[in-house]
Amino acid sequence: MTNFKDKYDPWALITGVSSGIGAEFARQVAAQGLNLVLVARREARLRSLARALETAHPIHVKVLADGLHVELKPAGVDVSALTPGFTATDLAGDFDFSGSPIKPMRVEPVVQAASQELGRRSLVIPGWQNRFLYWMVKRVLPRPANTVFFGKIFGTC
Ligand SMILES: NC(=O)c1ccc[n+]([C@@H]2O[C@H](COP(=O)([O-])OP(=O)(O)OC[C@H]3O[C@@H](n4cnc5c(N)ncnc54)[C@H](OP(=O)(O)O)[C@@H]3O)[C@@H](O)[C@H]2O)c1
Repeated sequence: MTNFKDKYDPWALITGVSSGIGAEFARQVAAQGLNLVLVARREARLRSLARALETAHPIHVKVLADGLHVELKPAGVDVSALTPGFTATDLAGDFDFSGSPIKPMRVEPVVQAASQELGRRSLVIPGWQNRFLYWMVKRVLPRPANTVFFGKIFGTC
């Protein structure tokens, strides 16, 4: 994983941390020893994660339960968009992958790939399967064909 401690110390702001990809980001960044500002709406989950991270690591965690209030300023702030593809989180739990050739990625390598590329690429797509799908969707298949393609994969068409 990229050394965030050298690059971004002492604070990191992470949004969407009450579950899934954001929660894993919080765990991996906390393990590097950065203090955290955590953002999501479910305050009980946020406070419980904050407590767990402060217990496990010598860091301070602040919680913003109302969402982001301050716009990111370009100077000194690295921004990358993560297009995770299917990832094994609560969100992916809504889909049945049993009959699908596409399987969700584990959340840990998704976050590791995103961390590796933060500030280096404007768009991060973890895993060859997701990069292939992205290429198919963007460059090969027209929009109606995409609908049929994904519909067949998930058995909805
Ligand atoms: N998992 C996948 O397969 C997959 C695939 C493609 C794209 N994505 C995208 O990746 C992102 C993270 O996905 P995930 O799987 O980690 O989902 P998740 O487990 O449902 O987590 C979403 C997080 O965002 C927070 N959130 C939602 N609305 C918010 C708001 N208005 N203000 C502040 N926080 C908000 C949620 O917390 P609260 O409800 O507590 O606010 C939660 O912590 C999502 O944008 C999702 O669409 C995921």
